[in-house]
Amino acid sequence: MGGGIGQWLLYRAGDGSLSLFSLVVPAGSQTPIHDHLAWGLVGLYRGTQDEEIYAEGGGVLELVEHRSLRPGDFYALIPPHDDIHRVRTTSAETSVSLHLLTNDTGCVWRHAYDAESGETRPFRSGYVNVACGEDDPPQHSH
Ligand SMILES: [Fe+2]
Repeated sequence: MGGGIGQWLLYRAGDGSLSLFSLVVPAGSQTPIHDHLAWGLVGLYRGTQDEEIYAEGGGVLELVEHRSLRPGDFYALIPPHDDIHRVRTTSAETSVSLHLLTNDTGCVWRHAYDAESGETRPFRSGYVNVACGEDDPPQHSH
């Protein structure tokens, strides 16, 4: 994901229907705007984060909500709403959040979005500690 950001797998179901992972984001780093394609729960364990939630309509991204998170806060990701967001660490220390999602989030091909144009590109975050299969990215990012 760049910026020294790492996604660490803690558990995943053998059939890919569930994954539990931590997201480690250094101070000042932010993720690309991305989706998850599955519902899930996210809780902040350490540090503070700003989260921007976007909605997609007609190929354009709209910022619909902004949240500041402290340790102990959690939120739900429920597609198609609340599934596109960007996370940035606002604390001087690295932030660590815990994610429980109903897919193998690190290994499935998702979408990253360009904030200006709303264009998507195939996005697979991977895991720092576990390999994904060698699936090619989708031909089209719709
Ligand atoms: Fe996310």
